[in-house]
Amino acid sequence: MKKVQVSPSLLAADMGNLVEVLRRVDIAGADMIHLDVMDGEFVNNLGIGFPILEAVRRYSRLPMDVHLMLRHPERHIDRLKGLGVGHFSVHLEIDSMNLELLSRFRSDSTTVGLALRPETPIEDSFPFLSEVDRILLVSVNPGFSGQKLQDHVYQRIESVLTEARRQGKKDLKIQVDGGVTVENAPLLQRAGADILVAGGYIFAQSDIEGAIKKLKSI
Ligand code: DX5
Ligand code: ZN
Repeated sequence: MKKVQVSPSLLAADMGNLVEVLRRVDIAGADMIHLDVMDGEFVNNLGIGFPILEAVRRYSRLPMDVHLMLRHPERHIDRLKGLGVGHFSVHLEIDSMNLELLSRFRSDSTTVGLALRPETPIEDSFPFLSEVDRILLVSVNPGFSGQKLQDHVYQRIESVLTEARRQGKKDLKIQVDGGVTVENAPLLQRAGADILVAGGYIFAQSDIEGAIKKLKSI
């Protein structure tokens, strides 16, 4: 079985020690760093903004995995691309969602994922599969760290992968975001997840290197 990639979610980390956190996730072997950008409208929270994204760019060599929980992500495309973001995820539920918007986030050096809130029918993603590199399934109430994974995510992974195969799309990656722990990670991998985002599980522990290594070794 293929190995999962791990994307630690900075939302749950101690921002007072940002540089040290970035150093530790890197030496632990994290594959990328997950950054939740929020506007207080698409979700009822404020997340990471440009100053922190710039600091992450400066102090980490890991690819930035940017989850845009914004009502109007199109307003920030150029500035975000200028930061050297590697992976973007844009929410299906926004008014401006269409294939053209997704293609604007994509380039030779960036991938684009389509993110779904847990209550959004998985079938709504099917018309976009051919145009995205990844589906990001949010498996908690979006915008907040430290919740329990909603179990219907396993079925959603299987449904979207079945549809991707039917469409002849072989390289679609599945990313799961929210409530990931060392207990459910093997089940998520078996269901077909490629990238696991984990915040609370990793950063609640003093041994964050050990937590990342445990997830990576699944
Ligand atoms: C939730 C965010 C997540 C969050 C995950 O909407 O998108 O990235 O930080 O945190 P945990 O792993 O604690 O659920
Ligand atoms: Zn996220």
